[in-house]
Amino acid sequence: MAPATSLFVENPTETPSQASKRMSIKTLVESPGLTSIPSNYSYSLNPNESAGSEPDETIPTIDFSLLTSTDPHQRSKMIQDLDRACREWGFFMLVNHGVPKSLMKETLDGCNQFFNLPMEEKKEYEGKDIWKPIRFGTGVDVKIEKFFFWRDFLKVYVHPQFNFPNNPKGFSEVAEEYSKRTREVIKELLKGVSESLGFERSYIEKAMNLESGLQIFAVNLYPLCPQPELAMGIPAHTDHGLLTLLIENEIGGLQIQHNGKWFNVNPLPNSFLVNTGDHLEILSNGRYKSIKHRAVVNNKATRISIAVPLGPSLDTVVSPAPELIEGESGRPAAYLPMKYKVYMDHQLEGKPCLDHVRLPVA
Ligand code: OGA
Ligand code: NI
Repeated sequence: MAPATSLFVENPTETPSQASKRMSIKTLVESPGLTSIPSNYSYSLNPNESAGSEPDETIPTIDFSLLTSTDPHQRSKMIQDLDRACREWGFFMLVNHGVPKSLMKETLDGCNQFFNLPMEEKKEYEGKDIWKPIRFGTGVDVKIEKFFFWRDFLKVYVHPQFNFPNNPKGFSEVAEEYSKRTREVIKELLKGVSESLGFERSYIEKAMNLESGLQIFAVNLYPLCPQPELAMGIPAHTDHGLLTLLIENEIGGLQIQHNGKWFNVNPLPNSFLVNTGDHLEILSNGRYKSIKHRAVVNNKATRISIAVPLGPSLDTVVSPAPELIEGESGRPAAYLPMKYKVYMDHQLEGKPCLDHVRLPVA
């Protein structure tokens, strides 16, 4: 079968110790006279991966205020819309979510300031160990990268324990508030998703032990790129949690796969971009597929995005919901049970983690 992503380890071009010395993209871009990208950053799409285009259908929008409505008719219509969005797209834009615009902006500003800190300070957080609670780096999380990607990142575990860099001053407080608000939004969405799967509202919260669920504050920096058509910010991948909320500094770049084609996402102002993750696919026994997405780069402006996924607690063993695999209407389990922590440990291997648990379809 053709690989789902291009992260496979073939012809490694650098050893892990060389990788740790690789320049950040920000530093590379700030080096004088950069007019073309170094050849290692030249990325070729898989034969089964098309270039992005404008969507020919409307990307679904979910109105959060209606989802939390006390009017049962309104709510049940929203649950249906949520079901369709998760089933047909694995992606939607969330509006009227109640998270203040000012908090979203302050959080993005703080991220920008973090990347502007002196390199010595950011270097303190470097490393390939995915369990480090605060991590700064370049490229993607695999042991050996076949292609280099046009991206620097900061990844912080913000729940069940809140961690954060001390600098820039005041950023930690803003990020803590942002993490709390986005966690509440995701938990509310998952109540809707529980119902759209035919369960009671708190089903996912309980089954996935969300009171100690793993929440990550993942910031991507895509500095402007002199040859954007040759480079890639993040290659096609799926997120491993349940749902991810993403915001960006109004510079587009996110692309999603829908019916085999790749589409640009042009976010509605102040919306959250929401995508389904691997553990929702597993729990729903494949009803809601974890959507493939990627980020392209541009030569106009630096793009920053913040992805906040929420997943089960690390010690939760996730399997398809038993109610969905039993009885007349159920279908056989399509995924093996696996502890979330063990699942995440597969991340550095460079092939999609879902491949470790997906069973051949009978
Ligand atoms: C991610 C991600 C996309 C983007 O961080 O997992 O998919 O638009 N980011 O930056
Ligand atoms: Ni992602």
